[in-house]
Amino acid sequence: MQHYLSINDIDSLPKWVEEARDLKNNPLESKSLGKNKTIGLLFFNNSLRTRLSTQKAAMNLGMEVIVMNFGNEGWALEYEDGTIMNQGTSEHIKEAAQVVSQYCDIIGIRAFASLKDKEKDEAEVVLNGFKKFASVPIVNLESSVGHPLQALTDAITLAENSTKVKPKVVLSWAPHPKALPHAVANSFVEMMQRQNADFVITHPKGYELGTAITNSSKIEYDQDKALENADFVYVKNWSSYADYGKVLNQDQGWMITKEKLGNAKFMHCLPVRRNVVVEDAVLDSEQSLVIDQANNRTYAAQVVLKKLLENLK
Ligand code: CP
Repeated sequence: MQHYLSINDIDSLPKWVEEARDLKNNPLESKSLGKNKTIGLLFFNNSLRTRLSTQKAAMNLGMEVIVMNFGNEGWALEYEDGTIMNQGTSEHIKEAAQVVSQYCDIIGIRAFASLKDKEKDEAEVVLNGFKKFASVPIVNLESSVGHPLQALTDAITLAENSTKVKPKVVLSWAPHPKALPHAVANSFVEMMQRQNADFVITHPKGYELGTAITNSSKIEYDQDKALENADFVYVKNWSSYADYGKVLNQDQGWMITKEKLGNAKFMHCLPVRRNVVVEDAVLDSEQSLVIDQANNRTYAAQVVLKKLLENLK
């Protein structure tokens, strides 16, 4: 594996999950692998889990870590070729990516969708710009289209908590006051398509994810029906894809309650808005796996960095 940009970079999901679980049992087993290697984490957007868990993973592997909040502190980057840079951008991705590559052996990039221009977002200009002009491996820390570290984490958490060979897993949209990207939901769907599971997506009409992502995954518009006999309920808000980036409704009837959850386990990538997306009674119950998910972020990142480091040797 040269880069970790999407779920498609995982050659065997079951093997990676097993490896991550082994690392969780013995996080320092490869402490010498990253000696004298540096990872640079560039954040164009906010983060708690991704930033800290990826640092922790790198430290477990013996790496040095450099973090930069690029959105606030870096020069505004230009991505277009041949632009006359007499407007707001100060530095071209061609120089920036090559410069960072001199300081780092691996580069992680977080750059969310703008939710204004679908074509531009789907071109992944930041992630692909670094991929094109950097000379070191790139890790996607959540891009416009995907959050593959989160999806690998979710596969680990499902494996740890599943008691059935073929569990029923429901991805449910939930209300949110702000327009949120599709990245987490997209990668979760792509990951679930590689699982032996009865997988159902539920959302109000108008919130269909891109068909290139959902393919033949089952969509049920009746949330109650979708949730029947669920073993896991993964909840996430996303904005409309068809009416790109728009909040079409904030129907509180879609919030996940204890009653709706039934006996299922609750999953969410965090951060989560209490009593908007999900009620307190769910998050504060033993059915909630959100803290376990956040913990597994470290081991998902660690398995990815370990494979990239092994490839550097
Ligand atoms: N789940 C997740 O990516 O969390 P952060 O946005 O806090 O990194």
